[in-house]
Amino acid sequence: ESSTEVDVSAIEPGQAIKAVFRKQPLFVKRLTPAEIEAANATPTGSLRDAESLADRTKAGHEDILVTMGVCTHLGCVPLGAAEGELKGEYGGYFCPCHGSHYDTAGRIRKGPAPTNLEVPEYEFLSDTVIQVG
Ligand code: FES
Repeated sequence: ESSTEVDVSAIEPGQAIKAVFRKQPLFVKRLTPAEIEAANATPTGSLRDAESLADRTKAGHEDILVTMGVCTHLGCVPLGAAEGELKGEYGGYFCPCHGSHYDTAGRIRKGPAPTNLEVPEYEFLSDTVIQVG
């Protein structure tokens, strides 16, 4: 299929769910206020791939972070979307293959990955359901 619908209503702050989009892992996370604050406190110009949290989320839904679960280095699936998994030094996602650390906005902060975790095209169909693709 070409698009994937995800109900985000049951995702608690600080939790993520894994879905599948075009046969690849998709992470949908609800950020906590502290995670949003951490992302917004980072000067965008200091980043390898300069994007703000607002650039990577939808207006009015800045707490919902939708990214591909595919490391932009060589394509491993990062840790951090499931309960208890390592989140890396910047509190977001961590790719154990070669040690890429992503922050709470899914932006690359340390390690070999060249770019942020990809945000796929998506839209909110309602306050609780997104359609990816
Ligand atoms: Fe993720 Fe290399 S594939 S760090």
